[in-house]
Amino acid sequence: MLSPIEQLAQAFNCAERVLIITGAGLSADSGLPTYRGVGGLYNSNTNDGVPIEVALSGPMLQRDPALCWKYLAELGRACLGAQPNQGHEVIAQLQRLKPHCWLLTQNIDGFHRAAGSPDERLIEIHGQLAPLYCQSCGQKDDDLARRLAAALPPLCRRCAGVMRPPVVLFEEMLPEKAIHTLYEQLGEGFDLVLAIGTSASFPYIVEPVLRARAIGAFTAEINPARTDLSDRVDLYIAGRALDVLPELLSHISVNRICKSSP
Ligand code: OAD
Repeated sequence: MLSPIEQLAQAFNCAERVLIITGAGLSADSGLPTYRGVGGLYNSNTNDGVPIEVALSGPMLQRDPALCWKYLAELGRACLGAQPNQGHEVIAQLQRLKPHCWLLTQNIDGFHRAAGSPDERLIEIHGQLAPLYCQSCGQKDDDLARRLAAALPPLCRRCAGVMRPPVVLFEEMLPEKAIHTLYEQLGEGFDLVLAIGTSASFPYIVEPVLRARAIGAFTAEINPARTDLSDRVDLYIAGRALDVLPELLSHISVNRICKSSP
């Protein structure tokens, strides 16, 4: 009888096309706060008397850039002060093992890229923190750390416009290219979809799992707490990403002959 982690490893061994979906829970093991749940950023109002979803919104960036930037800078400093963890490294390793293993992340910390996930199979659906760019003239600035240490909001050196990171703020559209790539890949279908450390609060996160189930693919979730996905996946593994992923990797052997392979 296989353990749940061995079952997941077997599904990975036998899959050709894999989609791994990650959320803030993966970077929680690097010390970053999650958005929802215990210790989540969204649990209380900001000190400025507005919910964080309002502070970190597109309209707020236009109306009161200093206020929005106060909270963007907190996120930025937290990310700059942390490192990818072994969970990110295992995912990059899984992608090296499977040339059709894609990664869809909601995280803006850039840790997947830093851990070695290939750009061409990484979909950062909520954007990323750097480089900053000027909202008025488009001028870019790569040095996030220096900008965060200086006066906020950061202003463009060329035209004095307000700079911003290429993240998706509340009430903003998702990046067109990321959405296009995601739906193009979903159209090709996946044999395995694995959600890790996400509360699956958005339809474009739930949909890949449901589409995979509908075509008979294997679906799994790794999360210490149950989510809306937990009852909808084939396999729910209760645990921290940092505990489960290294053990998963120890059971992977992609050269195995699978009963289901052609
Ligand atoms: P959430 O904060 O909504 O959910 C984090 C999930 O991680 C929860 O289900 C936790 O149970 C789980 N978790 C906590 N610690 C974990 C660990 N060590 N290992 C595995 N899982 C763990 O974060 P997301 O689902 O990523 O968007 O949130 C999605 C989006 O909501 C964010 O990208 C952000 C926010 O609005 C924007 O800012 C646009």
